[in-house]
Amino acid sequence: MLTFLKKGLLVALGPSLLISSYSVLAHEPDLNALKAEAITIVKQFGGTLKPQLKKALKEGGVKHAIEVCSVLAPNIAKELSLASQWQVKRVSLKARNNPNAIPDAWEKSTLESFDQRQETGEKPQTIAKAEIVNHEYRFMKAQGVEPLCLTCHGSSLSEEAKAALTQYYPEDKATGYALGEIRGAFSLTKQL
Ligand code: HEC
Repeated sequence: MLTFLKKGLLVALGPSLLISSYSVLAHEPDLNALKAEAITIVKQFGGTLKPQLKKALKEGGVKHAIEVCSVLAPNIAKELSLASQWQVKRVSLKARNNPNAIPDAWEKSTLESFDQRQETGEKPQTIAKAEIVNHEYRFMKAQGVEPLCLTCHGSSLSEEAKAALTQYYPEDKATGYALGEIRGAFSLTKQL
């Protein structure tokens, strides 16, 4: 009887009921879908920047690659943000010099937890965190230090790298890293 009544109601109210129940459902964030979207954007970011960085190093040396990175990295972040409903950036506890790379409170504590996870043996590639904070879905994915990164973030930099970094980033804090450490993270935010 109840089922019959419900069916009758559904038919009587038609699409409006369906729409309203749908919109209630739509407010429940689909965490798996959000995470998948975030991971896709992170892959696009890294997948665009890293090959360009390698190419610039090979073709024009470290000074040229630093110049390329200083323009390209913020541009990729901006374009990915514009093309999606996400705010996309990279952050670090020892930021190079870009004010955008300075973490907010949530990012800072997440980066600190990433360092702890790395120190207790977790591989940087698997370190990430997702959380809903103040009606925002936030996602961070760690970037570990690979051999390539040492050219510009390591502890024994070439004279050319040192000179270019001093020229472009006089307040640079992003050197002295060792292989396997956490250099920083991609940080993505979406309003829910
Ligand atoms: C050719 C030099 C160069 C190499 C190689 C390089 N970086 Fe950077 N990195 C830079 C520069 C320059 C910036 C600042 C970009 C900007 O102005 O936004 C930067 C910024 C970053 C940031 C953003 C946070 C901050 O400190 O500003 C992260 C994270 C980062 N690099 C990670 C890496 C990782 C991981 C690798 C290796 C896969 C790497 N970098 C290799 C030059 C380099």
